Amino acid sequence: MHTISYLSRIKKGVDNDALNELFSITKSNNDRYNVTGTLLFSEGFFFQILEGQRDVLKSLFHTIQHDARHEDILIIKNQLTTKRLFKDYRTGFSVLQSKEEIMNLKKYIDHSQLTSTNSTYITSILEPFLL
Ligand SMILES: Cc1cc2nc3c(=O)[nH]c(=O)nc-3n(C[C@H](O)[C@H](O)[C@H](O)COP(=O)(O)O)c2cc1C
Repeated sequence: MHTISYLSRIKKGVDNDALNELFSITKSNNDRYNVTGTLLFSEGFFFQILEGQRDVLKSLFHTIQHDARHEDILIIKNQLTTKRLFKDYRTGFSVLQSKEEIMNLKKYIDHSQLTSTNSTYITSILEPFLL
C-alpha cells in the first residue's frame, strides 16, 4: 500500500462549475480504482491524501501533477504505508469543501486509532483549513 499527500493552489480563472466537475470525476474514478483518502478545498487551496496500490497512485499522481487547474504543488508524503487511514471514512474517497465537513474529518482523526505521528501530521495540516 502506498500514500501520497500534497498541498496546492487553484489556478486563477477556474470557476465553480469546473471545480464541481473535477470533484465528481475524482470521486467516481477513485472509488472505481479503489483509491481512498480525501480531497479538501478551501480558500483557494487543495489538500489531498491518496491511498492505494503503488502503480495506480503513481500514474494517477502523474496526471494530477500535470492538471492545469492547480499549481505550486507541495508534496508532503510519497511513501509506503501499512494500512489505509481512510478506508471507512465516508466509504472510500471523500471530497470536503465546507468547514463543517473538515471539522468532522478532524473529529474522525481525533477518534481513530492513528499513531500519534499520523494524527499530528493530519491535524496540523487541517488547522489552517478551519480558520
Ligand atoms: C487538486 C486536484 C486533485 C485531483 N484529484 C484527482 C483524483 O484523486 N482522482 C482522479 O481521478 N482525478 C483527480 N484529479 C483530476 C485529474 O487531474 C484528471 O483530470 C482526471 O483524472 C481525468 O483524467 P483523464 O482525462 O486522463 O481521464 C485532480 C485534479 C486536481 C486539480
